[in-house]
Amino acid sequence: MVRDSRSPGDGSGEKNKALTRRQFLSRAWWAASGLLVVEASAGLVASLWPKLKAGSFGTKVRVASVEEVRAMPVGTITYFAEQRFYLSRVESGFLALYRKCVHLGCVIPWLADESSEDDLADKGRFNCPCHGGIYDRYGLVHAGPPPRPLDLFPISVENGEVIVDTGTVIQRSAFDESQVTKI
Ligand code: FES
Repeated sequence: MVRDSRSPGDGSGEKNKALTRRQFLSRAWWAASGLLVVEASAGLVASLWPKLKAGSFGTKVRVASVEEVRAMPVGTITYFAEQRFYLSRVESGFLALYRKCVHLGCVIPWLADESSEDDLADKGRFNCPCHGGIYDRYGLVHAGPPPRPLDLFPISVENGEVIVDTGTVIQRSAFDESQVTKI
């Protein structure tokens, strides 16, 4: 006599159903966990990699028209605070000086009434408030611990507009005429 192994009452059918339910729940749990991990990772990456707003520090910044910058007298320093640089009008053209002190990174203010350290004007120099670093309009060091001149950003002209690329920092050990952008 052959017995029906799935006959009612022996409990094996219920056991199979229970196993299936358990598997389903387990898979659903893993799927939900996986989704959570993916979402959390995406959020973390997004927060570590903030989107740069056009025209802000880290992007290419429109400074002014070619005509406007050409009208700046030699010795003029124009501060672009949000974009973190100074546009310095030197004899043969322009330098975009990163405002970060190359000693320990303090923000260097332009002091228009202090005595000048260059021959472009009688007054004006950068004074780092942290350890007394002093720089001239070329970004060259005249006093204090900074080990090299201020870093530069590249300047270009696009469609009649002067552009400074604040996403590209140029380090230098001395001044060279090739660093000046002639406009
Ligand atoms: S951080 Fe500017 S001199 Fe030290």
